Amino acid sequence: MLNMHNYPEIHFPEGFIWGSATAAHQIEGDDIHSINWRDQSMYPERFPDHSGKACNSYAMYKEDVVLLQKLGHHAYRFSIPWSRIEPAEGQFCEEAVAHYVDLCRRLKEAGIQIFVTLSHGSDPAWFWDKGGFASREALHYFERYVQFIVPRLAPYADYWLTINEINIMDRPGCNSFDLRKNYMICHAKAYHIIKKHSAKPIGAPHAAASVVPRDPHFAADSAHAAMQDWILNGFFYHALRTGEMVFPGTDAEIVEELKDSFDFWAINYYTRHQVSSRSKTRNNILLTSNRMKLIDREFYMSSFWPEGLYNELQRLKDKPVFLTENGCCCEDDRWRALKLFQDLSAIADAIKDGVDIRGYLHWSLMDNYEWVSFIPRFGLVHVNFKTFERTPKPSAWLFREIIERNGFGPDLVSKYLPELPKFKLFAE
Ligand code: FCB
Repeated sequence: MLNMHNYPEIHFPEGFIWGSATAAHQIEGDDIHSINWRDQSMYPERFPDHSGKACNSYAMYKEDVVLLQKLGHHAYRFSIPWSRIEPAEGQFCEEAVAHYVDLCRRLKEAGIQIFVTLSHGSDPAWFWDKGGFASREALHYFERYVQFIVPRLAPYADYWLTINEINIMDRPGCNSFDLRKNYMICHAKAYHIIKKHSAKPIGAPHAAASVVPRDPHFAADSAHAAMQDWILNGFFYHALRTGEMVFPGTDAEIVEELKDSFDFWAINYYTRHQVSSRSKTRNNILLTSNRMKLIDREFYMSSFWPEGLYNELQRLKDKPVFLTENGCCCEDDRWRALKLFQDLSAIADAIKDGVDIRGYLHWSLMDNYEWVSFIPRFGLVHVNFKTFERTPKPSAWLFREIIERNGFGPDLVSKYLPELPKFKLFAE
């Protein structure tokens, strides 16, 4: 994988969809009715930066559509913040609905396909006062929101994404297995509501990461990795395929309407986790950020591991697949180019080996608020967080060339990474 200049010419299937992804809380700014916003004031110690105006995209969405067009994207994934649509219990905000309808209209006019996420981290604070996703009794509020918003977006949506990354949803004080089961139930409800209003395909973005034993010859590491893989990946795949929710140490539950409640696999992939039974780190997952410094901060996504992406995709041969997120955060944009080449070649290999991959959405269109901090910059486009000026990075132009040619070859690698041999993948 490392000798990029020797890559063969890579072509993606005709009609392959290229685009990028964002989430409301991370780009719009002033998500004041959300639980995230409230958490920021209640627990400031958890948030090195306040989300504030983020990229100011609620005000600048028209420019963002023009940007997408300029960069040649076929598709855009964005999220609807429930917090704006229903800022207070039972009070739906028509002005906010009109905003998103206008965004959709503009995207359509620009010829950009719409992947709309119904839940990506912007739950209203009032919902969590009632128990939120941790309480089965409160889930009907989510259903009501979905019932409200879906018919309004149905004329525009090309692809639906229900709830982002159910498999890594956690909240302090909540049992993560219970939480994830509740999210699965909500996903199933959303799926069936959408089906009543739209013939367009539906998925749920899954945070896929390959889980590998630190020492594959050490039985405890292998066993541990297998269990962590189940918790992270296996649980989700099994639940969607069969309707059965199985977590270790809990009673299994069968939810009939969950079974087969998806039309495609929506996969977010960044990195791998190495598992050691000898380590006490979170969930005993050894995070690999110490292997490579891309930004001046410990960050868990900085292990490049295209083989893991290939392996994960091999598990998903039963339905079409879309990459709904993939990327990296770095100060030096050349890392982004390298990650693009590596992960796209893994995707091309997976297609060759029988996985029906239909599209790729890069995370992210622009630098944004990474949930607690502005430091991890994931954008193809640089954002000045004071002036909100957007400036495409070289990787944005590289991505446009890849889109135009529906693939890449060694010439593009040399053009964007002429100095590649000097890169060190693993810092000492
Ligand atoms: C994913 C999230 C997305 C963004 C990227 C970097 O897990 O879905 O919002 O934070 O990571």
